[in-house]
Amino acid sequence: MLNLGILISGRGSNMENILKSIKNKKIPINPAVVISNRTEARGLKIAEKLGIKTEIIESKGFEGSRVDYDKKIISSLKKYGVTPENGLVCLAGFMRIISPQFVKKFKNRIINIHPALLPSFTGLNAQKQALEYGAKYSGCTVHFVDAGMDTGPIIIQAVVKIKENDTEESLSKRILKEEHKIYPEAVNLIARNRVKVSGRRIIIS
Ligand code: GAR
Repeated sequence: MLNLGILISGRGSNMENILKSIKNKKIPINPAVVISNRTEARGLKIAEKLGIKTEIIESKGFEGSRVDYDKKIISSLKKYGVTPENGLVCLAGFMRIISPQFVKKFKNRIINIHPALLPSFTGLNAQKQALEYGAKYSGCTVHFVDAGMDTGPIIIQAVVKIKENDTEESLSKRILKEEHKIYPEAVNLIARNRVKVSGRRIIIS
């Protein structure tokens, strides 16, 4: 069974959903640790309540030294058995770009959720970007993390129709509902070794 490490920065609702799916025996993976780069992340309390080990690795002061910061994350993951061989890392609202060294070490072992239909609207405030662009549809994407920003192979996407009276808040809420479905689903597929990467394409068996 793989060991799961979840990295968060804030609210932690995707993390909560994944952990609850694991508790309900829907996903065969060991929830090893939740790591936050912010002391005040609300998700830390949720993880603790669910009985999951937590670590805070404060990123303040590491703005210019991504590699040094990621070394700390990698050694913390290792402490909990989350290694490139036996682990899976989920970025769940982790608002830091990770270093190419971390990505290379954990090749196809780090996944992320993004609140847009990639490759559209990468980076911050994806829901606002979709609204301002005038897109009729947006959604969310779970993808493997590669060295680019939101550019790795796509595992699952869900589509959300944009309404004429949508605000950033209302659209974000409907997208989040879909995020909560596809993120646990993606973790489950990987945990069951049903995801194969073939270049940019993902084959689900
Ligand atoms: C989610 O909407 C996630 O898609 C987004 O942050 C939110 C975190 O919420 N991630 C990104 O925008 C990454 N570029 P959560 O902490 O409640 O899971």
